Amino acid sequence: MSKLAEDFQRDGFAVIENFLSEREIEKLRDEATRLIKEESTKNEHGRQIFSNDNNAKSEYFVNSGDKIRYFFEKKAFVEGPDGKPQLLVPEDQSLAKIGHALHILNPVFRELTTCDKIKSVFRQVGFKCPTVAQSMVIFKNPKVGGEYTPHQDASFLCTEPEICLAGVWLALDDATVENGCLQFIPGSQELPLARRFVRVKQQSDNNPDASDQLLDWTAPIVQYDESKFVHVPVKRGALVLIHGLVVHRSAPNNSERPRWIYTFHAYDKGRASYKKDNWLQTGNNPNTFMSLYED
Ligand code: FE2
Repeated sequence: MSKLAEDFQRDGFAVIENFLSEREIEKLRDEATRLIKEESTKNEHGRQIFSNDNNAKSEYFVNSGDKIRYFFEKKAFVEGPDGKPQLLVPEDQSLAKIGHALHILNPVFRELTTCDKIKSVFRQVGFKCPTVAQSMVIFKNPKVGGEYTPHQDASFLCTEPEICLAGVWLALDDATVENGCLQFIPGSQELPLARRFVRVKQQSDNNPDASDQLLDWTAPIVQYDESKFVHVPVKRGALVLIHGLVVHRSAPNNSERPRWIYTFHAYDKGRASYKKDNWLQTGNNPNTFMSLYED
């Protein structure tokens, strides 16, 4: 068994330092920068703030599974004199994330997601048919980058009859304690799935009332023992493999340094099927779910 597989089985996460070359990092960063510029030129949807409350009610978020959409940091805005939100920081530092179909719609992110060394990671941890369900660039920019509260990724992307999900998390900056690196409860992948984030209405088109809740949690927030979280700082270029059940979180970025990452999640289609009430669905584009071993 490889060290990666051993760490992953024991702790629920594993780190490979220097996974990306400098050239690969720059290519991903340049493409993310280009996407930000493209968005600020078009800005067709206004600026959608990324927060649990907004997400659950927003068609823009709910139907982003097969699209490239942009979500802004709450802390990037203040209330302007006209009562409307006004940007507090330059627009290119105000995004929380871009998601959720970069792996299929964007050639640069697609190339990296499907490269041989990524396939090798999934082979090492025994995935028969890794199938990418979502992808995101998460920016966690200085001062405005928000926290991610403790969660299990399978809450968002659940499979049946068993849960077989893993996240690939690639550092495009050094991720440090100061700028909000990942924190894990090692071994917590042995815990059951505590709750799920699911669709409560099938299609937003059928919900003319914009205040309708489209997504909801199946159970309340779980409190985990603070003392059990371990910080996992990594250098730019590192890969962190995240088990779908391991409890993890990241703090807000109160530092002066950004913490950009590219991440995607794959489930094992060889062992399980994707649940139809997961929040993220492929809409009219079933090819959004991309099997990594199929060329
Ligand atoms: Fe996560």
